[in-house]
Amino acid sequence: MTTTRGNRLEGKVAIVTGAGATGSGDFVGIGQAISLLFTRQGAKVLLVDRDEKNAEITLAQIKEEGGDATVFVGDVTNIDSCQEMAEAAVSTYGKLNVLVNNVGISGPGSVTDVEEDFWDTVMDVNLKSVMLTSKFAIPEMIKDGGGSIVNLSSIVGCGPAAAAPATRTRPLRAGSWVLATPWPSTTGATTSGSTASHPATSTAPWSPATPPTNC
Ligand SMILES: NC(=O)c1ccc[n+]([C@@H]2O[C@H](COP(=O)([O-])OP(=O)(O)OC[C@H]3O[C@@H](n4cnc5c(N)ncnc54)[C@H](O)[C@@H]3O)[C@@H](O)[C@H]2O)c1
Repeated sequence: MTTTRGNRLEGKVAIVTGAGATGSGDFVGIGQAISLLFTRQGAKVLLVDRDEKNAEITLAQIKEEGGDATVFVGDVTNIDSCQEMAEAAVSTYGKLNVLVNNVGISGPGSVTDVEEDFWDTVMDVNLKSVMLTSKFAIPEMIKDGGGSIVNLSSIVGCGPAAAAPATRTRPLRAGSWVLATPWPSTTGATTSGSTASHPATSTAPWSPATPPTNC
């Protein structure tokens, strides 16, 4: 298989959350794929994952290809981890330009089935984490003249079907828009949302001028 290389992210430093490999064989996780693609395009990537073993697999692939990445073990729902990952990107690579909020979870069931504890966990992992990672990443991006934040949602957050999964992903789409609103005009930092579909990945970015009404 041919590996496409380029320089679209040359000189850029990125954090990718959930960058670890979870599958086997030909299966490639979305955060793993983003990290590989970023390094193939010249970026230096902080591979954030709460599972060190998963992150080390992605790191080994990147190193084998001659790319530059570093593992950071941390949980995106923990405020100290989120502060430390931004600091780690800057102390390791000197700056921060891109944040990919890839970590996200879901589960089956309707509102009448879902357990309260699981609901709270999903909201922490899918929505609160984006606030926490962005809180510490944005000031570092501003120091370098701006940056980009990409938040991964799901196709189930787009349509009327699958009510319970949709309520777990749609808040991220709304939250991303709110997050994006104050930044572009003043700082150059931009936020966009990507809708990961199954099994492939399609994207539906938005900006403050384009609210997340479509997929
Ligand atoms: N895989 C799909 O079919 C699919 C479909 C729709 C949307 N998505 C979205 O795409 C994104 C990636 O999905 P995936 O299936 O590739 O991920 P995944 O389940 O394979 O997880 C990737 C990595 O995230 C890490 N992780 C999980 N929780 C974490 C936390 N709290 N802190 C730090 N690391 C954590 C895991 O250890 C794992 O290594 C998610 O936001 C998901 O909702 C995926």
